[in-house]
Amino acid sequence: MRIVHTAAELRGPAIRPARRAGDRPSRAVVMTMGALHEGHLSLVRAAREAADEVVVTVFVNPLQFDDPADLDRYPRTLEADAALLEPLGVDVVFAPSVEEVYRGWPPVVTVSAGEIGRVFEGEHRPGHFDGVLTVVCKLLGLTQPDLAFFGQKDAQQVIAVRTMVRDLSMPVEVVAVPTVRDADGLALSSRNVFLSPAERTRALILSRALRAADAVARSGGTLAQVVEAGRGTMAEVPEVELDYLDALDPVSAQPLDAGYRGVAVIAVAARVGETRLIDNVVTRIGPLAD
Ligand code: PAJ
Repeated sequence: MRIVHTAAELRGPAIRPARRAGDRPSRAVVMTMGALHEGHLSLVRAAREAADEVVVTVFVNPLQFDDPADLDRYPRTLEADAALLEPLGVDVVFAPSVEEVYRGWPPVVTVSAGEIGRVFEGEHRPGHFDGVLTVVCKLLGLTQPDLAFFGQKDAQQVIAVRTMVRDLSMPVEVVAVPTVRDADGLALSSRNVFLSPAERTRALILSRALRAADAVARSGGTLAQVVEAGRGTMAEVPEVELDYLDALDPVSAQPLDAGYRGVAVIAVAARVGETRLIDNVVTRIGPLAD
């Protein structure tokens, strides 16, 4: 496994030549901001299964942070990250500096997430998805993969990336990987390290609320009943400050009408102390035969 810090090294011999004689090797990229946990590693394992070469990028992207304090305290643990990646058979870790990625700051040309950037996470974090898409676009350009792996944990991010790839005709296949959770249901996140033991217990309400919403959907509830079940569960722990719990369209990320039937993403965002957490579940509203 090679750890490289510059675009020049990435273009050079860092990425192995063809392993299978006569065949161009396929390449997968897993983009991360480091502080790796099992959620990230499940993306890496899926990438390893799917492609000949695996590139993992580790870059804390300042453009997607709306809160400077969040950017400052974001954990940076490259050595530990590399130690986790090596045994998984990763070929290259690309860990560039901010100066390497942003040749001029701020960048003049950026990507807009459009309507996706104005709802749910986008509404609560203005500019966030524009920052995500701009860096994803850059990292796709730098690593030139055939496949790019993203976690379903960040459902709106996957939708934004898929839409960018479609609308800008980018030659890459986007693969979504299911959310990895601790045994008690808490979705793994690099931000979980900030939770005190008491906060971590309170944080379980997010996944509990999603399970409650999913149960109502499975028993034939309407969209309003599904959302209400989730919000009602969130209200059981008033210390956890709810930003939103809502149903969104799995393709456009837009809010769904009350009468909607079909696949829906139930997404939740809430603050537990100083730490903002998100989670989601994909469910179906209305009968299967629809
Ligand atoms: P980061 O939060 O480090 O996440 C990197 C990738 O890991 C994302 O695709 C995310 O959805 C996935 N991931 C995180 N927790 C997960 C979990 N519990 N289960 C499954 N997948 C999980 O998302 C970002 O970084 C950035 O926005 C990035 C795409 C790298 C652009 O800067």
